[in-house]
Parts: sequence; C-alpha cells; structure tokens
Amino acid sequence: MTQNVGRRDTAAQNTAAAPEDALLTINAIEVMYGRLALVLRALSLSVPRQGVVALLGANGAGKTTTMKAVANLLRSERGEITRGSIHYDGSRIDTLDACDLAGRGLSLVMEGRHCFPTLSVEENLKVGAFSRRDGGRAIADSLELVYSYFPRLRERRNMATGFLSGGEQQMCAIGRALMARPRLILLDEPSMGLAPLLVEEIFVIIRELNRKEGMSFLLAEQNASVALRYATYGYLIESGRVVREGAPEVLMDDPEIRASYLGLDASAARMGDAALADRRRRWLS
Ligand SMILES: Nc1ncnc2c1ncn2[C@@H]1O[C@H](COP(=O)(O)OP(=O)(O)OP(=O)(O)O)[C@@H](O)[C@H]1O
Ligand SMILES: [Mg+2]
Repeated sequence: MTQNVGRRDTAAQNTAAAPEDALLTINAIEVMYGRLALVLRALSLSVPRQGVVALLGANGAGKTTTMKAVANLLRSERGEITRGSIHYDGSRIDTLDACDLAGRGLSLVMEGRHCFPTLSVEENLKVGAFSRRDGGRAIADSLELVYSYFPRLRERRNMATGFLSGGEQQMCAIGRALMARPRLILLDEPSMGLAPLLVEEIFVIIRELNRKEGMSFLLAEQNASVALRYATYGYLIESGRVVREGAPEVLMDDPEIRASYLGLDASAARMGDAALADRRRRWLS
C-alpha cells in the first residue's frame, strides 16, 4: 500500500474547496525548526468558508506545527516557514504578526488548553476580547453567547479556572477564543484527555457554532473517529506531508485509516501487508 502514500484521492479532490472560495489556504509550506529540522514538507490544505476541516495525524506528524504556522507563532520556537504561503480571507497572512491575526477573526486554541489558572472563568473569557474595539455592550453580548453554548461556564463564572475539570477548562479555552468573535478557529486536539461523553459534548457545540454562528474550524485531532464524524472534510498528514484528503465518508472507508486510526480492519495488517504493518508499528511506538 506504500504506493498510496502521497496520493490525493481524486473523488475527494472534487469535493475540496477551490482555493479561491476558501477562507484559509495553505500553499505548499515548508517549516523548519532551528534551521535544521524540516517538519512540514510542501503541505497544502484549505478550509472552506463555514467548513469544519479535520487535520488528522499521529504523534509528531506536524499538526500543531501547522496550526502555529497559520497563527504565526513559530518564531518564538525558532521555527520558520521557509517555502510556500498562507492566505486567509483573500490576504496573505504568513508575513503578518500573530496580534494582527486576532483582529482579522482568526483564533487559535492551543493544545493542552492554557487558561490562566488563578483568574476566574469570566476573567479568562474577557481576556479573549482584548483586541476588540467595539465596546462593552458588544463584549457583554459575546459573553452571553459563550454562556449560552457553555452553560457550565456560566455556573462556574466566578471560580478560578485552576479548579475546573479538564473538560471545563477546554470549554473555557474555546469560550475565550469565541470572545474574539472569530470567523476561523484553529482547535488543537480538543479531545485530548477528555472522557468520551465530554468529547462528544464539545464536538456537538463545535457543530452548532459552525451551523448557527457560521464559524469555520480547523481541528487537529488524533481521535480520527470523532473528528471525521463532525468534519465536513479531512486531511491526514504523516511526517509533515498530506498523504490523504477527502470527504469524511471517503476517509472512513480508506483501509489504512480504518486499520491505523479507527482501530478497524486490523486483520489487514496480519494478512501480510508489510508496509501497513510497519506503519502501524511506527504509529503505535
Ligand atoms: N520547537 C520545536 N523545535 C524542534 N522541533 C520541534 C519543535 N516543535 C515540534 N517539533 C518537532 O516537529 C515535529 C512535529 O511536531 P508537532 O508538535 O507539530 O506534531 P503533532 O502532530 O502536533 O503531534 P502530537 O499529536 O504529539 O501533538 C515533531 O517531530 C516534533 O518533535
Ligand atoms: Mg500537537
């Protein structure tokens, strides 16, 4: 099956957003850390307007690096985009500062959450509105919107976030991103460390935000089964390259994804497909 690596699914390409219609387009970027480690290699993807796009991949595949490249956060880690370009809403953004991006409606929710633990939930949420210039009334409306999607946050609005459960902290981190009134949210591993029911709850809210508020999402996930159930399109990356892309149902039917990401058809590896077995070993190591 190694011949499939690097292949783009033709049917899938037909359903991919044409770059000119896309809200976000990553064009063949190459990212290096410390001028030595080449981590992303000619990686291209796009997020259509009002799309929910899953970015799937194993540990170290380059999901977080892709998110940081879009949010322009590589520099603090001695990383840089050495080739390619990133466009958002018709403008090139890989040449801008991270702060400029928040004002344009692009928010990143980092892996591992990162709320300020000693601040209350409401204080954390208000931090998310720091770049807005549309006044207290509009910010209060956004706070109300966040509480309507996350009633648990309303109940805990005065509690220090350090005392929240992992799932509540994830909600707070997403809520804080919403306070910037984003059009595109980059969400890095929203399911990480959460019980299945909570993961489902969070993905249902993501879908509602997409459908009712028109927000687009790029979701980096190792949990392919949940991400593909909620996404409108997906990419699988391996060693910094896109190796598969397609509509969720196309990806869910892909034998390699079924065996290595969805835990299905494991017999394929036992049936002598050495390449697949080798990849399983790498992903599981
Ligand atoms: N600051 C850095 N300096 C050097 N190498 C880095 C740095 N950050 C990440 N890497 C390397 O880049 C590769 C991609 O890492 P990245 O964090 O993007 O993967 P990931 O897909 O998000 O993985 P995970 O699922 O574990 O979060 C890995 O090999 C990692 O070791
Ligand atoms: Mg990561």
